[in-house]
Amino acid sequence: MSTRLDWISHPAGPLHGELRVPGDKSISHRALMLASLAEGRSHIEGFLEGEDTRATAAILQQLGVRFTAPAAGVRVIDGVGLHGLRASTQPLDCGNAGTGMRLLAGLLAGQGFDSTLVGDASLSRRPMRRVIDPLAAMGARIDSHDGLPPLHIHGGIGLRGVTMDTAVASAQVKSAILLAGLYAEGTTEVREPQPTRDYTERMLATFGWPITFGPGWARLDGGYRLHAADVRIPGDFSSAAFLAVAASVTPGSDLVLCNVGLNPRRTGLLEALRAMGADIAIERTSQQGGEPVGDLRVRHAPLHGIEIPAALVADMIDECPALFVAAARARGRTVLRGAAELRVKESDRIAVMAAGLRRLGAAVDERPDGAVIEGGALHGGEVDSCGDHRCAMSFVLAGLVAEAPVHIRDCANVATSFPGFLDTARAAGMVVATSPAADGAVP
Ligand code: S3P
Repeated sequence: MSTRLDWISHPAGPLHGELRVPGDKSISHRALMLASLAEGRSHIEGFLEGEDTRATAAILQQLGVRFTAPAAGVRVIDGVGLHGLRASTQPLDCGNAGTGMRLLAGLLAGQGFDSTLVGDASLSRRPMRRVIDPLAAMGARIDSHDGLPPLHIHGGIGLRGVTMDTAVASAQVKSAILLAGLYAEGTTEVREPQPTRDYTERMLATFGWPITFGPGWARLDGGYRLHAADVRIPGDFSSAAFLAVAASVTPGSDLVLCNVGLNPRRTGLLEALRAMGADIAIERTSQQGGEPVGDLRVRHAPLHGIEIPAALVADMIDECPALFVAAARARGRTVLRGAAELRVKESDRIAVMAAGLRRLGAAVDERPDGAVIEGGALHGGEVDSCGDHRCAMSFVLAGLVAEAPVHIRDCANVATSFPGFLDTARAAGMVVATSPAADGAVP
């Protein structure tokens, strides 16, 4: 029996209240991995209880690390040290998580044993040569299915440090190389075509590994140790972004999103929305675990279309589906270019968002590396998220500001990154019903 879950998002608003979003997904993956390889007991707070990060936790437990979860969002991890992981006889299942698979590929390339990484149907279609090739240049041996998962990673191979110019601007690729670099002889240096999120670099420093880095580059030497640390993870900007766009486009809204991570490599959407006319203030800023955090106060404002500056794209890559909806409701034309990476995320996000918005009456012209979106009214209808969490949540925003309800197919994967999304959305004032799928099954 299918477990497809559909949602129906109704026109509603205004949105009000003070809300928190779950912990940052990228930071949660990294905190688990480094705490597992550290010496001593680490405490992690604000951990994302999502399916992606839980899959990574389960894999590390399968490799012999002991975790306890004394409360939701808390993990206490007894690290086994850099060389303390044990082989698993079973494949390691990353679920839907590209971050989990690519970072673990780097980490496992340095172990004394073989491992196999597998994923769900979506992850099994995602390109892995981007990590296989640079890791091979460090001496690693990784077998794949023609560049796709599963990945079989051979252990017991001495890695050597390299200086690498990565072909794609990807924090996952950079992180895989740096994690392999912990096990490599000599210096590993990564240079990126555009700066990407630097959480691996910051977290290595938190766990005591000497590293130097700046926007678009990072350098470390192998042969040190990681020391246990306490980590407080801020709210995920990408999750907050859905609510920020929702409040921006819904008349009368005034919504505060508390304790959101504001690392500058993540906040490109803020700049894009402000350039479109959005009214978003940052309040109560502080530092939390080496990361800037703050509250976002978002009030409705009429948006107008813009050309999204190319320099912002890498800093808003996960927020582009929500931007499509903002653009569809803005006055005039929005042009997004240089975002071809969207085609190899959990779905082809350019195709999925363009198809869905067109079904709701929007004029969206798909381009190989982006889209041209004419703003206007949206009518109701049925759209398919194609099992992509960020597309599903973006279509909820479309329903909020459409003239009639929007039926969204295949929403279960929202639990990978934003558990409790429906409760949070409803608390803000959105009206979303769950629907039995066509065959009558609801998980
Ligand atoms: C992530 C990096 C980004 C992002 C993903 C999480 C990370 O992917 O899209 O959701 O945690 O490093 P790329 O690095 O492949 O662009």
